[in-house]
Amino acid sequence: MTAPAQTSTQQSGQGGQQGHRFWSGPKASESLIAPSILSADFARLGEEVRAVEAAGADWIHVDVMDGRFVPNLTIGAPVVKSLRPVTQLPLDCHLMIEEPEKLIPDFLRAGADGITVHVESTRELTRCFEMIRQGGARVGVTLRPRTDLQHVLKVLEHVDLVLVMTVEPGFGGQSFMADQVAKIAELRRRIGPKGRGEQPLIQVDGGVNLQTVHAVREADCLVAGTAVFGATDRAAAIRALRG
Ligand code: DX5
Ligand code: ZN
Repeated sequence: MTAPAQTSTQQSGQGGQQGHRFWSGPKASESLIAPSILSADFARLGEEVRAVEAAGADWIHVDVMDGRFVPNLTIGAPVVKSLRPVTQLPLDCHLMIEEPEKLIPDFLRAGADGITVHVESTRELTRCFEMIRQGGARVGVTLRPRTDLQHVLKVLEHVDLVLVMTVEPGFGGQSFMADQVAKIAELRRRIGPKGRGEQPLIQVDGGVNLQTVHAVREADCLVAGTAVFGATDRAAAIRALRG
C-alpha cells in the first residue's frame, strides 16, 4: 500500500495552517480557480490538465459520480492516480457517490489532496471526515441545492472547506442557481471574512462563468468546467474568473 502521494501537513480541526499550500493562492480579494475536468476532453485528459495548469489554474476539480447518488457516471480513483504525476496542482475530488466511506481510502491512496463529501450521501459523515483527515487530505463537505444549510453548519468545525452547489449535482454545463447565493452569504457570516487561511474555505460549483461570477465573489474557490475548458483562451478565462 502506498501512502498518499502528497506531502500534506496534518491540519488542525479548525482548518489548515497559514501558508499551507491548500490555502496559498491569489490575493484575499481574488478567488482560487478550480477547473472541473468534467468538461475536459477525456481522451486527452493529461494534456487538458497540463493546459489548465499552464493557464493559471489553482486546483484541479475531479467530479466523481456513481450513477446512484447522481444519475451520471464518471471516473474513479484510478483516474486520480493517473493524473497525480501529471500535475503539481492539488487534486480536489468532489465525491457524488453513495457511501463514500467505502471509497475514500482508494482516493487517498491515489493521491487526492482534498476530498469533499455530500451530507446526503452517507450516515457516517464524521467517520468520512476522520478518514480524510487521517489520510492527510483537506476535508470538504457539501450539500445539494435543496438541502438545508443547517446540515453543514453543524459540522463546520470539522472541515477545511464547504462547497456550495449552485446546480443540481450530476452534470456539467447547467445554469447557475442564483437562489443559492444566500447560502454563501450565510456561510461567510458564520466563517468570517474572506482570505483568512485558518478558516474553512467556501467553494462554489455549478454554472460559474463570466456572466454569473459577480454573484459568487465572496467565495474563496470557484469551480468552473464549461467556462474554462470551453474557452478559446483558457488563461484569459481563468484571469477573468479570478477577479
Ligand atoms: C456538477 C459538478 C460540477 C460541474 C461544473 O455535478 O459538480 O463540478 O462539472 O461544471 P460547469 O462549470 O460547466 O457548471
Ligand atoms: Zn464538482
